[in-house]
Amino acid sequence: MARFICIFSLGFCVLLSAPIFAESATEAADKGSVQIKDTSAGARLYVMHKCYECHRAQKHHIGPSWQAISQRYSKEEDKARLVARLSVKVIEGGYGNWGTLPMNSNPGVSPEDASTLVEWVLETN
Ligand code: HEC
Repeated sequence: MARFICIFSLGFCVLLSAPIFAESATEAADKGSVQIKDTSAGARLYVMHKCYECHRAQKHHIGPSWQAISQRYSKEEDKARLVARLSVKVIEGGYGNWGTLPMNSNPGVSPEDASTLVEWVLETN
């Protein structure tokens, strides 16, 4: 009987944790695909600075997707000014362009790395 309860509860536990495993596997794949398919400096910085906690390439996830950002600013003529403006936002954070949720500041990102990241984001289509 004790053995039955033991096996039963173990099975229940596995059943309960399955969705959690599934979720983290998807997350890993999302991060992993960036690491494996895209070896550019932008992709490396994206992983290093954990931008994936709020951003994905194609789907909204807390913050806007790279695709949505790239599309919104695709008509901007002065690319250098755009990159400078968005780079400041990456470092200092801010809100109001995509809703009410603010982006936190990322003081660990250097101005050079912020530009590399923004240029990489703007290339997403
Ligand atoms: C804690 C969540 C979070 C993290 C981490 C985060 N962002 Fe954001 N990001 C947001 C949110 C929310 C917005 C939308 C802000 C707004 O409405 O203006 C945003 C907006 C942006 C924008 C568009 C800004 C605009 O004004 O259109 C860029 C570019 C961006 N993020 C890049 C990055 C990069 C690069 C990183 C990694 C260094 C990063 N984000 C990390 C939440 C985050």
